[in-house]
Amino acid sequence: MSKITAAITAVNGYVPEYVLTNQELETMVETNDEWITSRTGIKERRILKGEGLGTSDMAVPAVEGLLKKRGITAEEIDLIIFCTTTPDLPFPATANILAHKIGAKNAWGYDLQAACSGFIFGLATGAQFIESGKHTKVLVVGGDKMSSIINYEDRATCIIFGDGCGCALLEPNTEGYGIIDSVLKSDGAGSQLLFQKSGGSVSPATHETVANKEHYAYQEGQAVFKFAVTNMAEVAAEVMERNHLVADDIAWLVPHQANKRIIDATANRTGITPDRVIVNIERYGNTTNGTIPLCLWEWEDKFKKGDNLILAAFGGGFTWGSIYLKWAY
Ligand SMILES: CC(C)(COP(=O)(O)OP(=O)(O)OC[C@H]1O[C@@H](n2cnc3c(N)ncnc32)[C@H](O)[C@@H]1OP(=O)(O)O)[C@@H](O)C(=O)NCCC(=O)NCCS
Repeated sequence: MSKITAAITAVNGYVPEYVLTNQELETMVETNDEWITSRTGIKERRILKGEGLGTSDMAVPAVEGLLKKRGITAEEIDLIIFCTTTPDLPFPATANILAHKIGAKNAWGYDLQAACSGFIFGLATGAQFIESGKHTKVLVVGGDKMSSIINYEDRATCIIFGDGCGCALLEPNTEGYGIIDSVLKSDGAGSQLLFQKSGGSVSPATHETVANKEHYAYQEGQAVFKFAVTNMAEVAAEVMERNHLVADDIAWLVPHQANKRIIDATANRTGITPDRVIVNIERYGNTTNGTIPLCLWEWEDKFKKGDNLILAAFGGGFTWGSIYLKWAY
């Protein structure tokens, strides 16, 4: 019997309507368009407005669109892996909430927390259930309402993050398409450099933690930058080298959209030319778990069957990783 690989058979995405521009940020904190653009490449990001809306509310239209594209019903999904750092609630899992909202009555699911590497970890994890023969339809969702944990008085973080959600369906393939290899890493030594101080079991919410603004994302930008710029590039190079791939073999590099300078460093390290590097950071900023699926969604019609894609990400934790896949349609 030929080997089963997990192939992406459909992708989709959703971004909220509200556009937060650099110009609007200039009215909120002491910053300017030139500084933000030159340091990060970001011009605008999307914000989910509206009382009572959470990350799952962006996932619903994304997933419903995916099901329509693929021509299947929600009941056919076996498993939902919801990669997010901003779940609707601390518990239950947003995967369960999403399953209920879309009518995925036969699916089980769980949330996966690996900060900005979440979608890569989710794809690699979901692929195991396909490769083992356990499931035939695994939905991997990556999305965040980062605006729910951003302090819009902190210019070090509020310029970077945005809201958005994307998703991919994994199905079995016996012709060699799909996820071929992954390199996944983490190092808890970096856990205090990009994190949310309170709201977990170590420091539950109190009046004091709220007053001290400890429920927002905190970042030591320079330390994160140094780590990311090296490791995202190295892990992409590693997955290429061990699969005997050179830059010319790669149709598309799909990097996590954290910072244009980090994306450029990854492209340089792997030798992949800018025309084959997917970049939409200028329009969405860093949507954390959303960046890679949103890139796949926006570039889907440019991909050809058999294209070699390298996905690469890094995130808080620290976490980082890269996937080599052959596009299946
Ligand atoms: C956040 C980041 C853009 C900051 O850029 P940087 O060049 O490291 O900037 P620094 O923090 O050294 O600050 C440089 C100066 O700009 C100022 N500054 C910081 N944020 C600013 C802003 N939004 N607008 C204007 N000035 C700002 C600083 O106060 C500092 O001023 P000083 O020299 O007078 O002290 C950069 O560190 C970065 O991209 N880090 C990685 C972040 C990331 O990718 N996170 C997601 C991980 S998944």
